[in-house]
Amino acid sequence: MLNFTDNYARSFYYLRLSITDVCNFRCTYCLPDGYRPQGANNKSFLSLDEIRRVTRAFAAAGTEKVRLTGGEPSMRRDFTDIIAAVRENKGIRQLAVTTNGYRLKRDVAQWRDAGLTGINVSVDSLDPRQFHAITGQDKFEEVMRGIDAAFDAGFSKVKVNSVLMRDVNYRQLDSFLGWIRTRPIQLRFIELMETGEGGDLFRRQHVSGESIRQYLLEHGWVLQARARSDGPAQVFHHPDYLGEIGLIMPYEKDFCASCNRLRVSAVGKLHLCLFGDGGVPLRDLLENDDQQDALQARIASSLSHKKQTHFLHQGNTGITQNLSFIGG
Ligand code: GTP
Ligand code: 5AD
Ligand code: SF4
Repeated sequence: MLNFTDNYARSFYYLRLSITDVCNFRCTYCLPDGYRPQGANNKSFLSLDEIRRVTRAFAAAGTEKVRLTGGEPSMRRDFTDIIAAVRENKGIRQLAVTTNGYRLKRDVAQWRDAGLTGINVSVDSLDPRQFHAITGQDKFEEVMRGIDAAFDAGFSKVKVNSVLMRDVNYRQLDSFLGWIRTRPIQLRFIELMETGEGGDLFRRQHVSGESIRQYLLEHGWVLQARARSDGPAQVFHHPDYLGEIGLIMPYEKDFCASCNRLRVSAVGKLHLCLFGDGGVPLRDLLENDDQQDALQARIASSLSHKKQTHFLHQGNTGITQNLSFIGG
């Protein structure tokens, strides 16, 4: 069987598939001015059939896990059908979504029934006013109820993403820790990444994940060994807490050494990295079912161009104004 591997002996069994650029939030680090169409319009995002074909090709090459990203994936009316279509591939045992949580309360049971197995929700502040200031939406309570609904629907663990910002959650560390004492949440602090248009914010708000790591180690948290299927987070446990902490530190040396994922954007381009890469068009090979071999061959041969690292630590920045165009 063909497997997706690169020149640095990395294997790729995790696909991050963006299904829309549209988002109803405008997080300061991502879409500060709200969603603006960039050449693509709603109709030009991958159709359900194209999603079926692209995931079939990845599954046939050993992909075991798919994450649906955006924009906000649940903005698509056919989101539940997309979940079911991806799960038609037997090899894809894990199917997760990264969401702003807005639609969780209403729809999470339906997503579970269609085959969703994992949920990551963005919550950058536990203070409703600050949450509003960061996301542009006064929806803190709705998102909290959405997380409760995910537990009620049977998801035994939910991951929560908080992008670290000096004047925001960095000062709220203790209240964040208190929040997960009795909740089975993996709370992930993500180091702010510099995007093409996010230079100012980056210079003002960037804090290194290392300071959080030191704090955790000094307060009884223990680093867990990394499993093959793990995402980019370093995970910490504490005997007194039901929840756990994940630290995502993209600026750390060797962050990319364990890279196990490929990305496909909402307009059907293969991206070998979140940063510094223009994308390989795949859409012409998503037109009918007879193109699967050619599609796999194009993906496999593109991998020889995958660089060893994102070079963020050497001044590279995001290619687009924000990460919503490539699915974070
Ligand atoms: P799991 O650990 O499998 O749940 O997935 P994940 O952490 O990759 O998923 P999620 O979408 O929640 O990702 C959280 C954030 O981590 C992303 O939005 C990015 O900001 C960051 N991230 C994920 N993958 C990469 C990567 O390959 N490179 C970099 N630089 N950052 C990444
Ligand atoms: N830096 C770090 N993470 C980011 N995200 C979006 N933009 C950035 C950025 N500039 C991530 C957040 C959010 C996910 C959808 O994308 O983690 O939870
Ligand atoms: Fe939307 Fe997520 Fe970007 Fe916030 S981080 S604007 S929720 S895509």
